[in-house]
Amino acid sequence: MKPAVLVARAVFPEILERLRAHFEVQSNDDDVVWSRDELAERLRGKAGLFSTGGERVDAAVLDANPQLRVVSNMAVGYNNIDVPACTARGVLATNAPGVLTETTADLGFALMMAAARRMAEGERYLRSGQWTKWSYDLLVGSDVHGATLGILGMGRIGQAIARRGALGFGMQVIYHNRSRLAPEDEVPLGARYVDKATLLREADHLVLVLPYTPESHHAIGSAELALMKPSATLTNVARGGIVDDAALAAALRDKRIAAAGLDVFEGEPVVLPALLELPNVVLTPHIGSATGATRRAMAGLAADNLIAALTGGTPPTPLNPAVLPLKLS
Ligand code: DGY
Repeated sequence: MKPAVLVARAVFPEILERLRAHFEVQSNDDDVVWSRDELAERLRGKAGLFSTGGERVDAAVLDANPQLRVVSNMAVGYNNIDVPACTARGVLATNAPGVLTETTADLGFALMMAAARRMAEGERYLRSGQWTKWSYDLLVGSDVHGATLGILGMGRIGQAIARRGALGFGMQVIYHNRSRLAPEDEVPLGARYVDKATLLREADHLVLVLPYTPESHHAIGSAELALMKPSATLTNVARGGIVDDAALAAALRDKRIAAAGLDVFEGEPVVLPALLELPNVVLTPHIGSATGATRRAMAGLAADNLIAALTGGTPPTPLNPAVLPLKLS
Protein backbone atom coordinates (compact mmCIF):
# COMPACT_ATOMS: atom_id res chain seq x y z
CA MET A 1 0.00 0.00 0.00
CA LYS A 2 1.24 3.48 -0.86
CA PRO A 3 1.97 5.79 2.08
CA ALA A 4 -0.53 8.62 2.55
CA VAL A 5 0.52 12.27 2.35
CA LEU A 6 -1.28 15.54 2.88
CA VAL A 7 -0.68 18.53 0.61
CA ALA A 8 -1.65 21.51 2.74
CA ARG A 9 -2.43 24.06 0.03
CA ALA A 10 -3.20 24.06 -3.70
CA VAL A 11 -0.08 23.42 -5.79
CA PHE A 12 0.76 22.81 -9.45
CA PRO A 13 -1.30 19.90 -10.87
CA GLU A 14 1.85 18.26 -12.25
CA ILE A 15 3.32 18.17 -8.75
CA LEU A 16 0.22 16.41 -7.46
CA GLU A 17 0.55 13.97 -10.35
CA ARG A 18 4.16 13.22 -9.37
CA LEU A 19 3.18 12.70 -5.77
CA ARG A 20 0.26 10.43 -6.78
CA ALA A 21 2.72 8.09 -8.49
CA HIS A 22 4.19 7.33 -5.04
CA PHE A 23 1.52 8.18 -2.48
CA GLU A 24 -2.15 8.28 -1.61
CA VAL A 25 -2.49 12.05 -1.83
CA GLN A 26 -5.02 14.16 0.03
CA SER A 27 -4.82 17.54 -1.67
CA ASN A 28 -6.42 20.87 -0.86
CA ASP A 29 -7.70 21.85 -4.30
CA ASP A 30 -9.94 24.57 -2.87
CA ASP A 31 -6.85 26.15 -1.28
CA VAL A 32 -8.49 26.59 2.10
CA VAL A 33 -6.21 27.90 4.85
CA TRP A 34 -6.64 25.32 7.62
CA SER A 35 -6.34 26.15 11.31
CA ARG A 36 -3.70 24.30 13.31
CA ASP A 37 -6.40 21.96 14.68
CA GLU A 38 -7.76 21.25 11.18
CA LEU A 39 -4.24 20.55 9.98
CA ALA A 40 -3.66 18.15 12.89
CA GLU A 41 -6.97 16.44 12.12
CA ARG A 42 -6.30 16.09 8.38
CA LEU A 43 -2.84 14.69 9.09
CA ARG A 44 -4.38 11.62 10.78
CA GLY A 45 -2.94 8.52 9.10
CA LYS A 46 -0.52 10.52 6.93
CA ALA A 47 3.18 9.72 6.73
CA GLY A 48 4.08 12.98 5.04
CA LEU A 49 3.07 16.62 4.89
CA PHE A 50 3.76 18.89 1.92
CA SER A 51 3.59 22.31 3.56
CA THR A 52 3.92 25.71 1.94
CA GLY A 53 5.46 27.82 4.67
CA GLY A 54 2.31 29.05 6.40
CA GLU A 55 1.25 25.88 8.22
CA ARG A 56 2.38 25.78 11.82
CA VAL A 57 3.84 22.35 12.62
CA ASP A 58 4.60 22.27 16.33
CA ALA A 59 4.83 19.72 19.13
CA ALA A 60 1.04 19.55 19.51
CA VAL A 61 0.49 18.80 15.79
CA LEU A 62 3.28 16.21 15.90
CA ASP A 63 1.99 14.59 19.09
CA ALA A 64 -1.47 14.29 17.56
CA ASN A 65 0.16 12.45 14.63
CA PRO A 66 2.81 10.03 15.84
CA GLN A 67 2.68 8.27 12.43
CA LEU A 68 3.99 11.39 10.65
CA ARG A 69 7.52 10.89 9.31
CA VAL A 70 8.25 13.89 7.05
CA VAL A 71 7.36 17.57 6.83
CA SER A 72 8.48 18.99 3.49
CA ASN A 73 8.26 22.79 3.29
CA MET A 74 7.91 24.47 -0.09
CA ALA A 75 9.82 27.51 1.20
CA VAL A 76 13.35 28.29 2.23
CA GLY A 77 12.13 29.88 5.48
CA TYR A 78 10.98 27.28 8.00
CA ASN A 79 9.95 29.31 11.03
CA ASN A 80 6.56 27.58 10.70
CA ILE A 81 8.16 24.26 11.68
CA ASP A 82 9.43 23.45 15.15
CA VAL A 83 12.50 21.57 13.91
CA PRO A 84 13.79 20.52 17.37
CA ALA A 85 10.32 19.08 18.12
CA CYS A 86 10.50 17.17 14.82
CA THR A 87 13.97 15.87 15.64
CA ALA A 88 12.90 14.77 19.11
CA ARG A 89 10.16 12.65 17.50
CA GLY A 90 12.26 11.28 14.64
CA VAL A 91 10.37 13.36 12.05
CA LEU A 92 12.36 14.67 9.09
CA ALA A 93 11.88 18.35 8.20
CA THR A 94 13.03 19.68 4.83
CA ASN A 95 12.96 23.10 3.17
CA ALA A 96 13.54 24.44 -0.35
CA PRO A 97 16.74 26.50 -0.37
CA GLY A 98 18.73 27.69 -3.37
CA VAL A 99 16.05 27.56 -6.05
CA LEU A 100 14.52 30.92 -5.07
CA THR A 101 17.68 32.89 -4.32
CA GLU A 102 17.93 35.02 -7.45
CA THR A 103 14.18 35.56 -7.78
CA THR A 104 13.88 36.78 -4.20
CA ALA A 105 16.95 38.98 -4.62
CA ASP A 106 15.30 40.54 -7.71
CA LEU A 107 12.21 41.43 -5.69
CA GLY A 108 14.30 42.79 -2.80
CA PHE A 109 16.27 44.99 -5.14
CA ALA A 110 13.12 46.14 -6.92
CA LEU A 111 11.45 47.08 -3.63
CA MET A 112 14.56 48.96 -2.52
CA MET A 113 14.59 50.90 -5.80
CA ALA A 114 10.86 51.54 -5.66
CA ALA A 115 11.19 52.92 -2.13
CA ALA A 116 14.26 55.04 -2.95
CA ARG A 117 12.72 56.46 -6.14
CA ARG A 118 9.18 56.78 -4.74
CA MET A 119 7.73 54.73 -7.59
CA ALA A 120 4.53 53.60 -5.88
CA GLU A 121 3.83 57.15 -4.70
CA GLY A 122 4.46 58.37 -8.24
CA GLU A 123 2.09 55.85 -9.71
CA ARG A 124 -0.68 56.78 -7.29
CA TYR A 125 -0.07 60.48 -8.00
CA LEU A 126 -0.34 59.96 -11.74
CA ARG A 127 -3.36 57.65 -11.65
CA SER A 128 -5.25 60.03 -9.38
CA GLY A 129 -4.89 62.83 -11.93
CA GLN A 130 -2.68 65.04 -9.76
CA TRP A 131 0.11 65.28 -12.37
CA THR A 132 -0.51 68.56 -14.14
CA LYS A 133 2.98 70.06 -14.46
CA TRP A 134 6.73 69.46 -14.06
CA SER A 135 8.28 70.68 -10.80
CA TYR A 136 11.96 70.65 -9.83
CA ASP A 137 11.15 68.81 -6.60
CA LEU A 138 8.32 66.56 -7.75
CA LEU A 139 8.72 63.20 -6.00
CA VAL A 140 12.46 63.54 -5.58
CA GLY A 141 13.99 60.49 -3.99
CA SER A 142 17.50 59.24 -3.36
CA ASP A 143 20.03 57.56 -5.61
CA VAL A 144 20.60 53.84 -5.54
CA HIS A 145 23.70 53.78 -7.76
CA GLY A 146 26.84 54.63 -5.85
CA ALA A 147 25.03 54.58 -2.49
CA THR A 148 25.87 52.42 0.52
CA LEU A 149 23.91 49.18 0.54
CA GLY A 150 23.54 47.67 4.02
CA ILE A 151 22.56 44.02 4.30
CA LEU A 152 21.46 42.40 7.53
CA GLY A 153 21.68 38.62 7.02
CA MET A 154 24.29 37.69 4.44
CA GLY A 155 23.14 34.21 3.39
CA ARG A 156 22.44 33.19 -0.19
CA ILE A 157 19.79 35.85 -0.83
CA GLY A 158 21.76 38.58 0.96
CA GLN A 159 24.79 37.82 -1.21
CA ALA A 160 22.64 37.82 -4.37
CA ILE A 161 21.33 41.29 -3.45
CA ALA A 162 24.90 42.42 -2.70
CA ARG A 163 25.98 41.24 -6.17
CA ARG A 164 23.26 43.29 -7.81
CA GLY A 165 24.25 46.36 -5.80
CA ALA A 166 28.04 46.06 -6.11
CA LEU A 167 28.38 44.79 -9.67
CA GLY A 168 25.34 46.37 -11.29
CA PHE A 169 24.92 49.67 -9.45
CA GLY A 170 28.38 50.53 -8.13
CA MET A 171 27.16 50.43 -4.52
CA GLN A 172 29.42 50.09 -1.50
CA VAL A 173 28.29 46.98 0.34
CA ILE A 174 28.39 46.70 4.12
CA TYR A 175 26.83 43.81 5.98
CA HIS A 176 26.21 42.24 9.33
CA ASN A 177 25.64 38.54 9.83
CA ARG A 178 26.06 35.92 12.52
CA SER A 179 29.30 34.96 10.85
CA ARG A 180 31.63 36.82 8.54
CA LEU A 181 31.91 35.69 4.91
CA ALA A 182 35.08 34.01 3.69
CA PRO A 183 37.46 36.45 1.94
CA GLU A 184 36.74 34.83 -1.43
CA ASP A 185 33.06 35.78 -1.03
CA GLU A 186 33.71 39.27 0.39
CA VAL A 187 36.41 40.47 -1.98
CA PRO A 188 34.56 40.27 -5.35
CA LEU A 189 31.76 42.37 -3.83
CA GLY A 190 34.05 44.73 -1.94
CA ALA A 191 31.79 43.84 1.00
CA ARG A 192 32.76 45.16 4.42
CA TYR A 193 31.70 43.31 7.58
CA VAL A 194 30.50 45.76 10.26
CA ASP A 195 28.70 45.56 13.60
CA LYS A 196 24.95 46.06 13.58
CA ALA A 197 25.05 49.65 14.89
CA THR A 198 27.53 50.68 12.17
CA LEU A 199 25.36 48.99 9.56
CA LEU A 200 22.33 50.96 10.72
CA ARG A 201 24.24 54.25 10.88
CA GLU A 202 26.02 53.99 7.53
CA ALA A 203 23.51 52.32 5.19
CA ASP A 204 21.72 54.50 2.65
CA HIS A 205 19.57 51.51 1.81
CA LEU A 206 19.20 48.75 4.38
CA VAL A 207 17.88 45.36 3.26
CA LEU A 208 16.82 42.63 5.70
CA VAL A 209 17.39 39.05 4.62
CA LEU A 210 17.89 37.21 7.89
CA PRO A 211 15.92 34.17 9.08
CA TYR A 212 13.13 34.72 11.60
CA THR A 213 14.00 33.15 14.94
CA PRO A 214 13.30 34.11 18.57
CA GLU A 215 16.63 36.00 18.46
CA SER A 216 15.72 38.01 15.35
CA HIS A 217 12.22 38.96 16.61
CA HIS A 218 12.04 42.78 16.35
CA ALA A 219 15.68 42.98 15.29
CA ILE A 220 14.57 46.33 13.88
CA GLY A 221 12.56 48.38 16.38
CA SER A 222 12.50 52.01 17.42
CA ALA A 223 16.04 51.94 18.89
CA GLU A 224 17.48 50.56 15.65
CA LEU A 225 15.42 52.89 13.43
CA ALA A 226 16.71 55.84 15.48
CA LEU A 227 20.26 54.98 14.40
CA MET A 228 19.41 55.14 10.69
CA LYS A 229 19.91 58.17 8.44
CA PRO A 230 16.77 60.27 7.90
CA SER A 231 17.39 59.81 4.16
CA ALA A 232 17.68 56.00 4.43
CA THR A 233 15.32 53.33 3.13
CA LEU A 234 14.53 49.99 4.75
CA THR A 235 13.52 46.89 2.77
CA ASN A 236 12.30 43.63 4.27
CA VAL A 237 12.03 40.50 2.12
CA ALA A 238 12.76 38.10 4.97
CA ARG A 239 9.92 37.56 7.42
CA GLY A 240 7.37 39.60 9.29
CA GLY A 241 8.28 39.88 12.95
CA ILE A 242 11.89 40.81 12.23
CA VAL A 243 10.65 44.40 12.06
CA ASP A 244 8.45 45.95 14.72
CA ASP A 245 5.85 47.19 12.23
CA ALA A 246 4.32 49.72 14.64
CA ALA A 247 7.75 51.25 15.32
CA LEU A 248 8.47 51.34 11.60
CA ALA A 249 5.15 53.02 10.83
CA ALA A 250 5.93 55.69 13.45
CA ALA A 251 9.42 56.25 12.01
CA LEU A 252 8.05 56.57 8.47
CA ARG A 253 5.26 58.90 9.60
CA ASP A 254 7.70 61.15 11.49
CA LYS A 255 10.21 61.04 8.58
CA ARG A 256 12.86 59.54 10.85
CA ILE A 257 13.68 57.39 7.84
CA ALA A 258 12.70 58.28 4.28
CA ALA A 259 10.91 55.22 2.96
CA ALA A 260 10.44 51.47 3.20
CA GLY A 261 9.75 48.53 0.92
CA LEU A 262 8.01 45.62 2.60
CA ASP A 263 7.13 42.19 1.23
CA VAL A 264 6.48 40.59 4.64
CA PHE A 265 4.51 41.70 7.69
CA GLU A 266 3.84 40.83 11.30
CA GLY A 267 0.57 38.88 11.32
CA GLU A 268 0.31 38.71 7.50
CA PRO A 269 -1.88 38.59 5.51
CA VAL A 270 -3.26 41.23 7.88
CA VAL A 271 -1.21 44.42 7.54
CA LEU A 272 -0.98 47.07 10.22
CA PRO A 273 -3.46 49.82 9.19
CA ALA A 274 -0.87 52.51 10.02
CA LEU A 275 1.37 51.13 7.27
CA LEU A 276 -1.47 51.07 4.75
CA GLU A 277 -2.07 54.78 5.33
CA LEU A 278 1.51 55.93 4.73
CA PRO A 279 2.62 57.23 1.33
CA ASN A 280 6.33 56.44 1.82
CA VAL A 281 6.12 52.66 2.00
CA VAL A 282 5.87 50.24 -0.91
CA LEU A 283 3.90 47.14 0.02
CA THR A 284 3.81 43.78 -1.74
CA PRO A 285 1.99 40.62 -0.55
CA HIS A 286 4.88 38.22 0.21
CA ILE A 287 5.76 37.61 -3.44
CA GLY A 288 9.56 37.38 -3.11
CA SER A 289 9.71 33.98 -4.79
CA ALA A 290 6.66 34.45 -7.00
CA THR A 291 7.74 33.73 -10.56
CA GLY A 292 6.33 30.75 -12.42
CA ALA A 293 9.72 29.13 -12.89
CA THR A 294 10.80 29.59 -9.29
CA ARG A 295 7.55 28.47 -7.71
CA ARG A 296 7.72 25.34 -9.92
CA ALA A 297 11.29 24.72 -8.82
CA MET A 298 10.33 25.17 -5.14
CA ALA A 299 7.40 22.78 -5.47
CA GLY A 300 9.60 20.31 -7.37
CA LEU A 301 12.24 20.37 -4.64
CA ALA A 302 9.62 19.92 -1.92
CA ALA A 303 8.24 16.93 -3.85
CA ASP A 304 11.77 15.52 -4.31
CA ASN A 305 12.30 15.71 -0.56
CA LEU A 306 9.00 14.05 0.28
CA ILE A 307 9.42 11.27 -2.27
CA ALA A 308 13.02 10.52 -1.33
CA ALA A 309 12.29 10.56 2.40
CA LEU A 310 9.33 8.17 2.17
CA THR A 311 10.83 5.78 -0.39
CA GLY A 312 14.17 5.14 1.30
CA GLY A 313 16.11 7.64 -0.84
CA THR A 314 18.28 10.59 0.15
CA PRO A 315 16.29 13.83 0.58
CA PRO A 316 18.21 16.65 -1.10
CA THR A 317 17.69 19.39 1.49
CA PRO A 318 17.07 18.02 4.99
CA LEU A 319 16.95 20.40 7.97
CA ASN A 320 17.56 17.72 10.59
CA PRO A 321 19.53 14.96 8.82
CA ALA A 322 20.28 13.44 12.23
CA VAL A 323 16.91 11.65 12.06
CA LEU A 324 17.93 9.80 8.88
CA PRO A 325 17.50 7.01 7.95
CA LEU A 326 13.81 7.21 8.76
CA LYS A 327 12.05 4.23 10.26
CA LEU A 328 9.46 3.50 7.57
CA SER A 329 6.82 0.88 8.25
C1 DGY B 1 10.44 31.39 1.48
O1 DGY B 1 10.68 30.46 0.71
O2 DGY B 1 10.75 31.36 2.66
C2 DGY B 1 9.71 32.53 0.90
O3 DGY B 1 9.35 33.48 1.82
C3 DGY B 1 8.57 31.94 0.11
O4 DGY B 1 7.41 32.43 0.23
